[in-house]
Amino acid sequence: MKRYFASTLAIAVALGAPAFADDAALREAARDIFEAIPMQPPVPEGNMLTRDRIDLGAMLFFDPRMSKSGLFSCQSCHNVGIGGVDGLETSVGHGWQAGPRNAPTMLNAIFNIAQFWDGRADTLADQAKGPVQAGVEMNNTPENVEATLASMPGYVEAFKAAFPGEADPITFDNFATAIEAFEATLITPNSRFDQFLMGQDGAINEQEKRGLALFMDTGCASCHSGINLGGNGYYPFGVVEKPGAEILPEGDKGRFTVTETAGEEYVFRAAPLRNIAITAPYFHTGKVWDLTEAVSIMANSQLGAELTDDQVNDMVAFLTTLTGEQPKVEHPLLPVRTSSTPRPAP
Ligand code: HEM
Ligand code: HEM
Repeated sequence: MKRYFASTLAIAVALGAPAFADDAALREAARDIFEAIPMQPPVPEGNMLTRDRIDLGAMLFFDPRMSKSGLFSCQSCHNVGIGGVDGLETSVGHGWQAGPRNAPTMLNAIFNIAQFWDGRADTLADQAKGPVQAGVEMNNTPENVEATLASMPGYVEAFKAAFPGEADPITFDNFATAIEAFEATLITPNSRFDQFLMGQDGAINEQEKRGLALFMDTGCASCHSGINLGGNGYYPFGVVEKPGAEILPEGDKGRFTVTETAGEEYVFRAAPLRNIAITAPYFHTGKVWDLTEAVSIMANSQLGAELTDDQVNDMVAFLTTLTGEQPKVEHPLLPVRTSSTPRPAP
């Protein structure tokens, strides 16, 4: 991390005159730092993206009966129609309880090095086991999920097809594996930024190009880099100056809770910025609704940079080019319950 901060400072000091002679130079610099989203989803390690498995994952993602109350599905908080978020400051789950954090999008989550604001789950399959059991989310147990699935012939068939050759395919692990396969397909390629990276000069306009140059010059890109412009490293929130307690409350120590390593207090995963223009509100507390304000906060807290209004607007214009083609997911038909399906409980 130390090496990283040195380079941030060097870049921040260079802030000023536009550093790129023309579009080709801007693209070359951008290609060193960022990567376009591929048109085809990557296959998660230990998984396979068969049609049967993806379809089963979609059913599970949309099925509220995976929650104890029968009301909450993954889709409740990661709505595929609105950028994979719920649009709330912090999510509301079982018993109408508000959870402690904002729901990040699962779109392109396959490209993050680890899941959650603090990176506490290594893979999407590990991640999927969390919300089902979390008291403030779906409040269910693995045993009850398995019993629910096994009670419906539609799911028995779907698990057999998705996990061929397994004697007893209805397991909580396979539940998570199928969801991971579905989520891997939820990528948003071909954003205007990606078109620019791929060689189309006109895909982003002059203001957006200024914003991109600034995003690299000021040092944002030293944390928000790679395919997701973030999601690939951990940094203190408040490197130069801590934001106010409303945005960064003392109680949530971020990565420290995961690693219990001194110095990791208030360290979070650099948030992925793909589709950022459609996933307000911002930060793990969801306290900031305006992208302009979020950019100013980042400039101050992470870089100690005072940007002019024009610079912030240019940067926001650039960030809107990160909205990619949204996956069009048809709501699956879900298996019919039987008399042995566990009943929803409050
Ligand atoms: C985080 C998927 C259910 C709220 C995440 C992430 C993924 C995900 C992939 C991490 C994204 C990232 O780190 O960039 C799922 C799946 C679900 C599910 C597959 C169903 C099995 C829910 C529900 C709620 C919810 C029902 C709301 C009640 C959240 C919140 C976070 C999160 C608040 C961030 C938590 C933290 O960082 O501590 N979810 N989710 N999720 N999800 Fe879900
Ligand atoms: C979060 C933009 C610089 C680390 C965010 C978010 C935005 C953003 C919009 C909110 C994402 C969301 O809520 O989904 C920018 C811009 C920067 C910049 C425009 C330059 C002016 C940096 C730098 C670092 C960094 C230099 C690392 C030192 C983070 C972290 C988060 C974040 C850790 C998550 C904060 C949280 O826990 O809520 N950034 N960023 N950012 N950024 Fe930056």
